[in-house]
Amino acid sequence: MTDATTATGATMPVLILLGPPGAGKGTQAKKLEEQFGLIQLSTGDLLRDAVARGTQAGKAAQEVMDRGGLVGDDIVIRIVADRLDAPDCEQGVILDGFPRTTAQAAALEGLLAQKGASVNAAISLEVDDAAMVERISGRFTCAACGEGYHDSFKQPQAQGVCDKCGGTEFKRRADDTAETVRSRLAAYHADTAPLIDFYDAKGALHRIDAMQPIAAVERSLQAIVAPVTGAALA
Ligand code: AP5
Repeated sequence: MTDATTATGATMPVLILLGPPGAGKGTQAKKLEEQFGLIQLSTGDLLRDAVARGTQAGKAAQEVMDRGGLVGDDIVIRIVADRLDAPDCEQGVILDGFPRTTAQAAALEGLLAQKGASVNAAISLEVDDAAMVERISGRFTCAACGEGYHDSFKQPQAQGVCDKCGGTEFKRRADDTAETVRSRLAAYHADTAPLIDFYDAKGALHRIDAMQPIAAVERSLQAIVAPVTGAALA
């Protein structure tokens, strides 16, 4: 493991986005990545990549993901540890979908301590469960660049053409069915929601009303992230 101090000698910023499926973690993490030069580290994306490549971890994860459960802590922690070791993470990370259990939160503390870093802010995106099924079942992404869209809330400006890269193929996630979303919400309430108190007790918790429009959530997040990264707000 390398010591993750930046070129200026500062420790790498570490932000966590907490929230149930469909809260907007991925949508907002991508914006923060672009605005603040942070690296989005999404365990969902890393696991889907492992499934697509047919790795041992991917084979073990696929069945659990398909039914909306949580993949084993040992697999997820190993994937995160490897990703955190990559040099680009030294510029700071936004953890999207990790940690999801108290065991993962404890492991994260250990991994960061080895780098002389710690969690700067854990931001809970707060939403109504009832809205989540609609948000998730309407979601689709550009097959080429991964830009996210929604049937009702965010269509591409030109129909069938990605705003960001001009791609014309879009895809939907296999676990975005109404039944699987209910299992994912249940897993969130049982295993992940307790982390809100965990980070509150450490004085690191921020809460955002994520039922607001995407741009309003973005502004609330910027106000929290800018001081952590030392960036000035426009
Ligand atoms: P993961 O990929 O992390 O899925 P998730 O947590 O269920 O979250 P989503 O990606 O579905 O939602 P999101 O909050 O990112 O919302 P989004 O921005 O896309 O995990 C998938 C699976 O992998 C898990 O079920 C589990 O099996 C496994 N896994 C992953 N991490 C794990 C871990 N640490 N431990 C164990 N297992 C793990 O937004 C959704 C839609 O809503 C989009 O269309 C968007 O445009 C729209 N939208 C966003 N914000 C708003 C808004 N404010 N208003 C209106 N629409 C909005």
